Amino acid sequence: MRKKFYITTPIYYVNARPHIGHSYTNIAADAAARFFRLKGVDTFFLTGTDEHGQKVEKAAREAGREVQEFVDELAGKFKDLWMTLNVCPDDFIRTTESRHIRAVEHVLNYLYEKGDIYKDSYTGWYCVPCETFWTDGQVLMENGKRLCPDCRREVDELTEENYFFRLSKYQDWLIRYIKEHPDFVKPEGRYNEVLSFLEKERLNDLCISRPKSRFSWGIEIPFSPDHITYVWFDALINYISALGYPEDTEEFTKFWPADIHLIGKDILRQHAIYWPIMLHALDLEIPYQIFAHGWWLVDNKGSAEKMSKSRGNIVDPYVMVEDFGVDVYRYFLLREIPLGVDGVFSYEAVVKRYNGDLANDFGNLVYRVLSMAEKYLKDGVVQFTERPKNRLVESLFDLKEKVDLEFSSLNFYEGLACIWDVINLANKFIEEEQPWTMRKEGRFDDLKRFMYILLETLRIVSACVYPIMPTTAGKVWEQLGMGADISQANWEKIFVWGVIPEGTKIKKYPPLFPRRDEE
Ligand code: MSP
Repeated sequence: MRKKFYITTPIYYVNARPHIGHSYTNIAADAAARFFRLKGVDTFFLTGTDEHGQKVEKAAREAGREVQEFVDELAGKFKDLWMTLNVCPDDFIRTTESRHIRAVEHVLNYLYEKGDIYKDSYTGWYCVPCETFWTDGQVLMENGKRLCPDCRREVDELTEENYFFRLSKYQDWLIRYIKEHPDFVKPEGRYNEVLSFLEKERLNDLCISRPKSRFSWGIEIPFSPDHITYVWFDALINYISALGYPEDTEEFTKFWPADIHLIGKDILRQHAIYWPIMLHALDLEIPYQIFAHGWWLVDNKGSAEKMSKSRGNIVDPYVMVEDFGVDVYRYFLLREIPLGVDGVFSYEAVVKRYNGDLANDFGNLVYRVLSMAEKYLKDGVVQFTERPKNRLVESLFDLKEKVDLEFSSLNFYEGLACIWDVINLANKFIEEEQPWTMRKEGRFDDLKRFMYILLETLRIVSACVYPIMPTTAGKVWEQLGMGADISQANWEKIFVWGVIPEGTKIKKYPPLFPRRDEE
């Protein structure tokens, strides 16, 4: 068993408000962190904001704001969203914080002294309106003129002096490392993508500075006051600066290397190529795994496109939460598609999951069992029964291994499917056993046994959905008289028969997921 679990999300650019794509990564990371905490593993979950760079500076300027004030406000919006979504990180790192700046300066000095960072000059093409530097291969040629590939305006030739990090020196090491660690990148398709890229192309050294004459919103290079640090080089370091690096803090010693860097597939190369090479050059350990999830797309007249600010097709998480509630939103994102693939987000799909899985299956089971408990148990008071041999109870206990296997590898899609098999079996069990007949025929021992099986089923099943739907799980436990603080539960103890004590009084709440009419 793992002794500790350190999971991170990307740190998000603060050039715009968060959307459902960002919330997807953080909800998945939160579910994983909750699961490991439930298992009693010492867990650290990190998220944060990426606040430097030209994009952010430009967004602030366009908003007519001071950059620092602008990033403060946006970082607050990310924090607020995580609170609303019940996403509970152990730390929130901002790249404008002094603890982070100190770590970046240390890394730069260390690599410069080691000779892995060097100065060079190069010539490229600069688009003044976009403030972007393009290489020969990137610019467009039209009527003998070189154009910016973004805005199609003419670009100027520019020679710059910059600092470079020797990526190329470590390419063969990285190929070997990846081959020796088949779980380093997940899912498997992404692993193959990284490896074949590395085997096909020679890496160029990475330009890690920008001249201050172009823009200045960044961390100054300690050995060159005319330059600031390239935003990606700065940002990746957050995963260690948050733990206190370069100090040998207790957190750094305990949690580094990270267990999982959870990211979107758009930023795989930076995480699976730049980052391990940076760490190796720094003589630090390499994270166990980079997990790249897919994108949420939106339908645009029959074809699916990525949700992004520039396309103006953003779905606002607050609108979804207002309409469906936090747990439904969390459930939908993690149940609709496996974490590695793309999915199309639509209101109709959420309603379908809601009415099917939540109202008809889970919500219905909870409400039915508690209604029967009120009706069939004297004063709604639980009567204990020894663990019986029966298919529902066996499948309930099989969940322990199945859910552990799936949730530990971030496969929420499959893990939830296994839980729903048991929920459906329990609904079927009620039909088959016909408690109303037991009562009519005066088979009170059977009725007592039947009720206890179902109450224990609710207890175990809701504990299993806790990482994904924490509030809902807590509400079920409350109704079972188990106390609301399900977060303090322990995975091993959940899978013990007979935890609901004899004499517990059941409290029935209104249905958790009342059916919605639209479909
Ligand atoms: N700041 C960098 C990351 C630095 S990490 C050291 C960055 N930020 S970002 O704001 O653009 O966020 C990118 C991340 O947001 C993606 O990797 C992904 O986790 C999430 N998503 C953004 N749009 C998304 C979708 N449409 N669908 C799913 N997730 C996506 O890149």
